[in-house]
Amino acid sequence: CGIVGVLGSHEVAPLILESLKRLEYRGYDSAGIATVNAGKLDRRRAVGKLVNLSDLMVHEALPGKAGIGHTRWATHGEPNVANAHPHRSGPVAVVHNGIIENFRPLREELAAAGIARESDTDTEVIAQLTRHHMDQGMDPQQAVGATLTRLEGAFALAFLFDGQDNLMIGARKGSPLAVGWGEGEMFLGSDAIALAPMTDRITYLEEGDWVVVTREGATFYDRAGQRVNRSVAKIQLEQTRVDKAGHKHFMAKEIAEQPSVLGAGLTHHLSADGHALAFPPEVDFSRCDRVTMVACGTGHYATQVAKYWFEQIAGLPCDIDIASEFRYREPVLSDKGVGIFVSQSGETADTLAALRHVDGKLAFTLGVVNVATSSIARETDVALPILAGPEISVASTKGFTAQLLVLLLLALKAAHDRGRLDDAGLAAKLAEIKMLPGTLAQALDREPEIEALAHKISAAQDVLFLGRGVMYPLALEGALKLKELSYIHAEGYASGELKHGPIALIDETLPVIVLAPRDALYEKTVSNMQEVMARQGKVVLISDRAGLDEAGAVWATLAMPGVSDLIAPIVYAVPAQMLAYHTALARGTDVDQPRNLAKSVTVE
Ligand code: G6P
Repeated sequence: CGIVGVLGSHEVAPLILESLKRLEYRGYDSAGIATVNAGKLDRRRAVGKLVNLSDLMVHEALPGKAGIGHTRWATHGEPNVANAHPHRSGPVAVVHNGIIENFRPLREELAAAGIARESDTDTEVIAQLTRHHMDQGMDPQQAVGATLTRLEGAFALAFLFDGQDNLMIGARKGSPLAVGWGEGEMFLGSDAIALAPMTDRITYLEEGDWVVVTREGATFYDRAGQRVNRSVAKIQLEQTRVDKAGHKHFMAKEIAEQPSVLGAGLTHHLSADGHALAFPPEVDFSRCDRVTMVACGTGHYATQVAKYWFEQIAGLPCDIDIASEFRYREPVLSDKGVGIFVSQSGETADTLAALRHVDGKLAFTLGVVNVATSSIARETDVALPILAGPEISVASTKGFTAQLLVLLLLALKAAHDRGRLDDAGLAAKLAEIKMLPGTLAQALDREPEIEALAHKISAAQDVLFLGRGVMYPLALEGALKLKELSYIHAEGYASGELKHGPIALIDETLPVIVLAPRDALYEKTVSNMQEVMARQGKVVLISDRAGLDEAGAVWATLAMPGVSDLIAPIVYAVPAQMLAYHTALARGTDVDQPRNLAKSVTVE
């Protein structure tokens, strides 16, 4: 979900709509705007896409030069108009990202004071509590200050008040918020992308901060209510460009960008001569006895591939966890352990909570992040950028391969630090990895064949993906992409595990996609494939020429470029992504914003 606030010199509703449009990528299912016009607070809200809100405002205009807007991804309460933000109580309107954990007792307390609920949301209590404080004689700033001390949970907030057309109040705890500086205009936004059309000068609120904004400037307060100074940063507009560059969808653009994204990653993380690594000196695995990696979604599959690398190449034991499971299983941590937190957005609530859980219990923590200003980037000891540029499509593509590259380089660093690889050995591995941009470009050239394959797959009800070794997490990622985008039920399985259950599903209707480069495990995977064929399953074999020739006739094939084992999982991500993309196109689903999904999940 996304937040925008504007104290402008012109009508703000169109500006807020445009900004919300730039935040669409985060996923949402309703939207709304409130403004103050001639002192009067008013709002419009609509379910579904932003076009519904803009249509509504054609019939019921919302004038005013001060306003706040929001796109909502439902947590408490279904996506309907009553639950959409801004929430209003008396003179107070508020938009909120995050979750207020103690909203039930607050709601009861407010009901006892005669303030009845109007929605099913947790957010509403924020507006009501603030109004309650104002009813008792506080001014807006005092009222918000008093409200903030009562809220438990995570929030980014923007407030607007009846009778005040030169005032917005913002607050941040666990969910990011930034102030944008204009000429006689001021802005609030949940990220730099939202603010980019209006200004390139922004100030990120620190954890626990709140801010009083007028057209003349902003006054910051920390969690203790003390006035504080916060610095202004100039954002790189390149980092906030949100256009499809001629592609039909952001996802298509982001898939196509992978050769240059990985090229940028190599340039950044390798020494100038390309023979060594250029990580900061703190990234030292020589005394490390264990790696613990935590992530969600696609990032988790990247860590699952990296586990093979850390163990095989660096000989380091490696635990991986889904962030939402990590804290609650009481992981055993070693003070010589290194924690690696992988997150494209750097804001995923579960991953951030996992990072806070290990505080002080490990030798050091690394963030593998795309958004350099994110919470995870700021709270890890060392943040390593994946340099993928803004990823707008909800389904992660270039983010995944760019994460894999950094994790592979980290595994090599660990091997080198621990004496498992000498300088020459490291340089040889890096030479293989430097093939990546070129090989990814060759993989992208297979698009016409993949499109044809997608048409065949699009008729299926279920799809199984199989892989072994590093290809197993790729099978999981392939299945995740396909189900997210096309809504076809898909599962990824380790090929060797097929006979322990999923083989029962196989009949002549089930496509089984086998990811099997001609590597040391190829023979074994192919014999699992034979088990599928013997039961009339429709095998789609994705392999290199040598692998396809050896396998014999199957239902469909896809020829990939020949690759070294080291980079194979990164290259094989591309056909999995393109297959999901084209299957979604064939089925007419919403590629960039699949139903129910959000790009950045800032709730637990
Ligand atoms: C959401 C997104 C996924 C992403 C996951 C983790 O579910 O839809 O694409 O992989 O969050 O996000 P992160 O930003 O932490 O990598």
